[in-house]
Amino acid sequence: MKYNFDDLADRSNTNSVKYSTPDVLPMWVADMDYKTPDFVLDVIKERVNKGCFGYTEQPNYFYESIIDFYKRNHIIEIKRDDMIFTQGVVPAISSAVRELTNDGDNVLILSPVYNMFYSSILDNNRNALECKLTYNDGIYDIDYDDLDNKLKESKLFIFCNPHNPIGKLWTKEEINKIAKLCIKHNVMVISDEIHSDIVTPGMKTYSFLNITDLDVIMLSSASKSFNLAGLQGSFMVCYNHELLHRLEHRLDVEGQTHGNALVYDALSKAFSDGDNYLSELNKYIYNNKLYVENFIKEEIKDLTYIKGDATYLVWVDVSKVTDNVKRFTAKLKRKYKLWVSSGDTFGSNGAGFIRINLATSHANVVEGMNRLKKAVEDK
Ligand SMILES: Cc1ncc(COP(=O)(O)O)c(C=O)c1O
Repeated sequence: MKYNFDDLADRSNTNSVKYSTPDVLPMWVADMDYKTPDFVLDVIKERVNKGCFGYTEQPNYFYESIIDFYKRNHIIEIKRDDMIFTQGVVPAISSAVRELTNDGDNVLILSPVYNMFYSSILDNNRNALECKLTYNDGIYDIDYDDLDNKLKESKLFIFCNPHNPIGKLWTKEEINKIAKLCIKHNVMVISDEIHSDIVTPGMKTYSFLNITDLDVIMLSSASKSFNLAGLQGSFMVCYNHELLHRLEHRLDVEGQTHGNALVYDALSKAFSDGDNYLSELNKYIYNNKLYVENFIKEEIKDLTYIKGDATYLVWVDVSKVTDNVKRFTAKLKRKYKLWVSSGDTFGSNGAGFIRINLATSHANVVEGMNRLKKAVEDK
C-alpha cells in the first residue's frame, strides 16, 4: 500500500465540525479522517506559496480532469459544454429546486435519505414527498407502485446515487426502472452522485447520466472521495444545454458560480492523479466494513448490519435495543464517548437505525465497535 490510512490527519485547531465535541470518537458526519494525499496537498501548497489570492478564473484543465476521470472510471462521455462548476452539491441542489419548482410543489425523495435533501426542499417552501423505501430482512428496496403514484404528483425527483445513509449501490436495472417511471410522468431527475467513487472493490456506480431520454441533472465532486468538502467545489452535468444554462443563470443570480483560489487546482489534481489512491482507499474501507459486519454478527447480536456496497457509511438496525434512537445516540455520545448519527435525521423511517462513519483508522473502528457493544449491554 502506498497510502497509510492508519496515520490520521491532525484535526486540532482546524475548527473541524466532525471534531467539535472534545474527547469523543466522532463517527458521524460524512467526513474522512485520512490525510489529504500528497499529490493534492503539494498542488495546494504550490498555490499558497504564490502568496496571492485574487479572483480566480475557471481553468479548462479543471473540466478536462473531470472529463478524463469519467471516461476512465465510469465509461461516460462528458463534454466541456455539458458541465458547470458549482460551489457544493447541496447549494446547487437548493438552487435547482428554486429554479425548477414553485412554492408548494412536491419534490420526491426516496427515504430514508441524506438529511440536507429535506432542507433543500422544505427551506424553499416546497413539499418533500417521500416514497419510503421498503425494508425486509435487512434489505432495502423500492416500492415501484408507490413510486409510480408519487411521481404522478411530483415536479422534481432528487435521487441519491449511491444512497446515503443506507449505502446502497443502485443497479443498472433499478436505475432503468426508476428512469422509465420518470419518463412516463415527465419528471426531471437530480442525481446526487457525490458518493459514486467509494464502492466495494470491483464494483461501479451506474450513473444516471446513462439515461439520455430524460432531463437529468447530475451533481458530484471530489468532496467525499478525496475529503475536500471544506474547499467547496463541485460540478453539475446536464446534456440538455438549455436547461443547464437556465440553472447556471440561476446560480449566477445567487452569486454561486465562482470558485475560491484553491479549489480548481486541488480538485483537478485529485481527479487526474487519484485513481490509485481511490483504489487503495476503497480496499481499506471495505476491510473496515467487513470487520464491523462480522463484529455485529458475532458480538452484538441484537443489532443488524445492513449490507451496502457504497459509501464509507454503514447503516445499522438498533430497533431491538431501543425505541428512542435519539436517546440511544445521546447516551452513546455522553457515556460511551462515541458519536454516531441518529437514523431519524434521515426521515421518520430512519428511526430505529444509526449511521456509522467508517472512514477512519482500523484501530478507531475497533474501538468504536467496543464502545457500541458496551452501550448495547448497558440497558
Ligand atoms: C448525498 C450527499 N450529497 C451532498 C453532500 C454534501 O455536499 P457538499 O458539501 O458539496 O454540499 C453530502 C455530504 O454528506 C452527501 O452525503
